[in-house]
Amino acid sequence: MLNKKIIIIGGGVIGLGIGWQLVKAGVAVTIHERGQAGRGASWAAGGMLGPIAEAHIDELDLLKLSNESLARYPEWVKELESETEMPIGYRAEGTLIIGIQPDDSYQLQHAYNLYQDLGLNVEWLSGDEAREIEGALSPYVTAAIRCETDHQVDNRLMVQALQRAYQGRGGVLHQNSGVKRIVIENDTVTGVETQDGFESADMCVLAAGCWSGQINGLPDTLIPPVRPVKGQMLALQMQEGVMLSNVIRTVKARYPMPVYLVPRGDGRLIVGATTEELGFDTDLIVGGIYELLHGAFEAVPGIYELPLIETWTGLRPGSSDNAPILGKTPVENLIYATGHYRNGILLTPITAYEISKLVLTGETSDTIAPFHLDRFSID
Ligand code: FAD
Ligand code: GLY
Repeated sequence: MLNKKIIIIGGGVIGLGIGWQLVKAGVAVTIHERGQAGRGASWAAGGMLGPIAEAHIDELDLLKLSNESLARYPEWVKELESETEMPIGYRAEGTLIIGIQPDDSYQLQHAYNLYQDLGLNVEWLSGDEAREIEGALSPYVTAAIRCETDHQVDNRLMVQALQRAYQGRGGVLHQNSGVKRIVIENDTVTGVETQDGFESADMCVLAAGCWSGQINGLPDTLIPPVRPVKGQMLALQMQEGVMLSNVIRTVKARYPMPVYLVPRGDGRLIVGATTEELGFDTDLIVGGIYELLHGAFEAVPGIYELPLIETWTGLRPGSSDNAPILGKTPVENLIYATGHYRNGILLTPITAYEISKLVLTGETSDTIAPFHLDRFSID
């Protein structure tokens, strides 16, 4: 057992996930959360576990990490659900990326070729074959890529279960307790400052999502390059005739906006999301909601009749290269686990396992080595 006190800054899926792994190993952990735990990006997300649909030719390290995290999901879900007796809505039906307009066909074929070159598990379907799987798809869907292994989880249920698991094992959670400053002396972290004053720590993990670069005390060169990327979202209530079970996504570069539809076990249909570089603005805008509904209607016309039950926005923690920032920093005992951008729900298990291992052993695994802060250093 590690006889050290660990402070984690931020109580989203990443902070709570790491905290849970550490308290299970018998470590004393305190999480400071500025607001209510799990109500940041972790609440706003779609919950898609989609390494294939999110794959990009320039992001192969991220694809590998994403696949490793997805592979850990069944074990993660089983343990979390049995420890908390809270189901977290993991669904393994898969994902259909669909083409609707003639322009989509080229993009869909291009994506399929890429996925095949990358050795990913995909299947080409005609429009009729796609409609055999999801009868509510539009008659204008011309073709689809089936990604059987791109799954989903209910992120809101997961973050609540993580909080229960963490606290159930004795983890300390201070909510409404923002960290104002990370205190560093002689290039070593000594603790944090909150509204209640100084609290000492042997090690500190920064997991404050898109706010990670805003905490005082870090030398300029070590401020993580993380920014907020706004996403507007909405939820519909599925009804007979529009009961999807697969995640549906339109092609990535679709004009004016690609959309996804994520059917939950409780009958909600999550529709997302805009991708907006507007700083910390979280306003809901008619144009955003209109484009989401328009895109969703083109994919599944039956949504026209469904009740609209919720709208919200969230801020993705985007890094300069879209990949997370994980591991040690030049400051002794200061560890980063931030910048998970569009895939933080997917990347929660691998981040939690690997960062807790780093805290316990001091060793950086090959898995997270490519994601160090120093990849951004300019020589
Ligand atoms: P957060 O959940 O934002 O948590 C950070 C926490 O730190 C917050 O609770 C905040 O209050 C706290 N904090 C901030 N500053 C301080 C401070 N000074 N002191 C103490 N606490 C502080 N990912 C997927 O894998 N699949 C998806 O389908 C998906 N869809 C998304 C859709 C949208 C619209 C958005 C916004 C994100 C989506 N994501 C998705 C991304 C995913 O939600 C994030 O990558 C992930 O939630 C990041 O988790 P986090 O714990 O780092 O951040
Ligand atoms: N991964 C989905 C999103 O970020 O909107």
